[in-house]
Formats: sequence, structure tokens, C-alpha cells
Amino acid sequence: MAPAYLATIPALRRAARWAPLALFSSGIVAGDKPVLVRDFVRSALYDPNHGYFSKRSGPVGVLDSAIRFHKLDGRTAYMKHLDKLYKMHDISWFTPVELFKPWYAYAIAASILRTANLSVPLKIYEIGGGSGTCAKCVLDYMMLNAPPKVYNNMKYISVEISSSLAEKQLETVGEVQSHLSKFTVEHRDATDIAGWGSKDPQPCWVLMLEVLDNLPHDLVYSPDQVSAWMEVWIEKVNGRFVILFFKFQTP
Ligand SMILES: C[S@@+](CC[C@H](N)C(=O)[O-])C[C@H]1O[C@@H](n2cnc3c(N)ncnc32)[C@H](O)[C@@H]1O
Repeated sequence: MAPAYLATIPALRRAARWAPLALFSSGIVAGDKPVLVRDFVRSALYDPNHGYFSKRSGPVGVLDSAIRFHKLDGRTAYMKHLDKLYKMHDISWFTPVELFKPWYAYAIAASILRTANLSVPLKIYEIGGGSGTCAKCVLDYMMLNAPPKVYNNMKYISVEISSSLAEKQLETVGEVQSHLSKFTVEHRDATDIAGWGSKDPQPCWVLMLEVLDNLPHDLVYSPDQVSAWMEVWIEKVNGRFVILFFKFQTP
């Protein structure tokens, strides 16, 4: 039997081939109406009460210290070390900027320094800076390698949706006192255009690491990529989430 809401959405009812494909349990989306994947992702990640990025700890894994790559004897040793780290930290994943710190952010900073027009003050925006590792390492690199005027006059602005991660970033960057006068965190949703203010003609850099795939997005599905593409919706049924596929409407 088709779900009850199809009776109230005639267009969907005509076109829908509904198929609950997977079941999983969570308390994220309240209500029993189907929602588009973009709304489900928004709620699951950003809801101020239960969203993943609103948790006080754990949304972004932080390594206590840098991996000493020169002590690792090849790929197998690296994989074993990684396995040990994951067991120790009880975290789902570490991002590349964490695993390869400080080198990953140093490479970004070196590239900025090599190509920036240094006659204007350097301005770097980072969207979704997580624990602040990239910001701290970029600022470290500039302090150690850029002409003092460039480091002293630079601005690094972080735009972060999670209040706990915004706080964490200030802590991480604040490990070096002189970085703090160059660094600010704007706690807001970077996708909300209102937060960006008016256009600034001065050049700037925008860094986004592991962020695009976290933004609310739609999902389309075709079992073999030849059959018709379907739109993916999510519905809560008896406390569990059901994934639904609907054929797109043709006008
Ligand atoms: C997967 S983490 C990546 C953190 C860091 N860039 C890294 O590579 O370790 C995603 C980050 O983006 C932030 N974020 C996600 N959506 C955002 C949005 N719309 N506006 C601002 N920050 C966002 C999250 O809070 C988190 O800090």
C-alpha cells in the first residue's frame, strides 16, 4: 500500500514509484511528512539542538600532535598508525588538514604567498574551519616565512556555522598570541548571502576544506544511470527513516 501522504499530494501519487530501500534510526527530523534530502541534511547537520555540527565535542577530530611521517616506514606502517589513532580517539574520521598537519596547511600558505599580490594586505577567508588547524598553521607559516609586513597586516576571517567550533578555533589559533590580532571568527551560515555585506573590490582568498559535501543538497538516483532519474525524499515512519524515490514530474 502506498503511504497516506500520497493521497494528499495527487501529482506525487500519479508519478510515484515508492520503494523504501533502507531503514535507519535517528531522532533528527520531526514530523511524518516526507522531506527533500536537502532539508534532511540541513536538520541533521545544523539544527542548533541536535545537529551534528552543534555538538560540543567530536564533530571534527583533532590530533593531539602531528604524525611524525619520517618515522613511518612506508604505506603499511602509515595505515597501522592510522588504525591505532582511530582506536585511541573514538572518532569517525580525521580530515586531511588534521592528518597531515602542519604540512597540508603549509602547502596552502606557500601557494598563497607565491601567487598573492603582496602590495595589498593579505585577506584570507576560511569557510568551515573546523577545529582551527588550517587557520593556525597558515598563520604560523606566514609568521615564519612571509615578510614581516605581510604577516603583521594580514587578516584571516573564519566563517563558521557551529558555535562550539567557532570557540575551538579561537582556542587553537590563540596558542600563538600574536595570531589573535589577525584572526576573527564570524559565527554564521556562509550560504546566507546577507552575512557577506557589500562587495569589497580588494582581492581575497577563500579556503574551504571538506565543506562543500556538508552543505544541504538534493539527491537524485537512478539504479543503473540509464533508467529515469528519481528524486530522493526521506520520511519518518514509526520512528525510523525511510528513503523514498519519486520519478521526476514531466510538465
Ligand atoms: C567536515 S568539517 C571540516 C573542517 C575543516 N575544514 C577540516 O577540513 O578539518 C566541516 C566544517 O564546515 C562547517 N560548516 C558546514 N556548513 C557550514 C556553513 N553553511 N557555513 C559555515 N560553516 C559551515 C562545519 O561546522 C565544520 O566546521
